[in-house]
Amino acid sequence: MSSTPVRVAVLASGSGSNLESILDYFEALGADRPAEVVLVASDRADARALERARLRGIPTELLERPSDGDALGALLDVRRVDLVALAGYLKLVPASVTRRWHGAIVNVHPALLPRFGGAGMYGRRVHAAVLAAGERESGATVHFVDEDYDRGEIIAQERVPVEPGDTADSLAARVLAAEHRLYPRTLHSLALGLARAT
Ligand code: GRF
Repeated sequence: MSSTPVRVAVLASGSGSNLESILDYFEALGADRPAEVVLVASDRADARALERARLRGIPTELLERPSDGDALGALLDVRRVDLVALAGYLKLVPASVTRRWHGAIVNVHPALLPRFGGAGMYGRRVHAAVLAAGERESGATVHFVDEDYDRGEIIAQERVPVEPGDTADSLAARVLAAEHRLYPRTLHSLALGLARAT
């Protein structure tokens, strides 16, 4: 039974290294890929994630008003998006969108939620907080997105050690590598769950 690939939209505000790892992962699966990225959207015109998408011929959209749920929902609908993946997206997704895509909108966070998450906890602040707390390990979390930052049900996590002498930057690099392994594989299993017979 063949099924058409689940259609994924990636929302990103920054460099897009998670986007790149997702694109590489599904491209490597070739015709058997269970998902394909059909849209990359950003609230930032200068986001490198948009450039990465353009270089690979993937449609992009600039979100002029990220808080406008109707506009974002229309964008996702017109491209028949089944699964929304936030990858370094720093805006809160409007509730109308998180409700409409409930169970099909996910995010990657650079820490072991539920700790070290929530509003304002992003980038190197997360890793600095983990180090300041004296944690022996950190990691990456993929979770469902609801109306609050980083509060949705956890789907998958990958743990990494905190090494002696770690700085926020060295820990960030180790966690980011874990994200790049975890996110595509988690999207793969989610897509299999969403896949439908043609
Ligand atoms: C990652 O650390 C991710 O966990 C967080 O933002 C960062 C995005 O990095 N949400 P990139 O834009 O995917 O390189």
